[in-house]
Amino acid sequence: MIVVFGSVNADYFLNVRSFPAPGETVLTPGHIVKPGGKGANQAVAAARAGAKVAMIAKVGDDGAAQVPLEAFKAANVDVTHVKTSDKPTALAMIMVDSEGENSIVVSSGANGDLKAQDVPDELLTAQTTLVMQMEVPVSENFKLLKRAKEKGVRTVLNVAPAQSVPEDVLPLIDYLILNEIEAATIYEDVFKEKSASFEQSALGLAQKTGGVCLITLGGDGALAAKDGKTVKVSCLPIKPVDTTGAGDAFVGIFSAMTDAGLDLGDAMRRAAAGAGLACLKTGAQEALPSKEQIESRFSEIRQF
Ligand code: RIB
Repeated sequence: MIVVFGSVNADYFLNVRSFPAPGETVLTPGHIVKPGGKGANQAVAAARAGAKVAMIAKVGDDGAAQVPLEAFKAANVDVTHVKTSDKPTALAMIMVDSEGENSIVVSSGANGDLKAQDVPDELLTAQTTLVMQMEVPVSENFKLLKRAKEKGVRTVLNVAPAQSVPEDVLPLIDYLILNEIEAATIYEDVFKEKSASFEQSALGLAQKTGGVCLITLGGDGALAAKDGKTVKVSCLPIKPVDTTGAGDAFVGIFSAMTDAGLDLGDAMRRAAAGAGLACLKTGAQEALPSKEQIESRFSEIRQF
């Protein structure tokens, strides 16, 4: 089963022709509120892709929490361990431009109260795939990784948004997942020099963890490194409406497929197909594909 330890946000979407420059004000006719948060998006993506998923999170005792909580319910995500904090539910202000690109600011609120001890021992077994991101206190992620590893759990860390991962934590990560910006940041942080290519980043970071390093490359698909070798996959030929949450779709679907026993290339092809399909509507969770939708499109993804 999948256990997601992570953020739950209410996403406020603002469509803009282009992002405001520093000091500039732009107008938009209105906004829409959707479920979001990297943790929540990954949990819903994994559940839609067919996995049994439990979410560990904190939300506020407020109306904003209802939006993500309803989405968990609709996707059959177990929310037994989603607890209420004194702080408000986290909010994300998301601007989407006419190309479907986004720019996001998150007000952390209740996410800041999540603790490693909120995960009960019975959820950490050799049958568990634990999925984490960096929108909750990162020291709690690192504590949980240590506990999880001692219990034989498969661990996935999506270093989003990019923040330092201590050298002694890297070997606790079975699957390190990054986007292009995060890969450049983390490589430089770990190796104290810039990487010459994404291949070099993936190979170097995979060697540091002793596991797999995956880098999502937007319209160029995704790349993985393991044991000194690389695997690349292409992406779906789509015109994105909104790329918000595409990385989360990749992480959630990849984790679900890996948890189900698929090999690296097969899991990546399905994750790449699902991430593409997730970009076809506004909202991080709006277009997350079902298992059937993923299966009907993944053969269009090339592996090389
Ligand atoms: O990755 C997309 C997510 O980032 C959004 O749902 C928003 O909540 C921010 O956390």
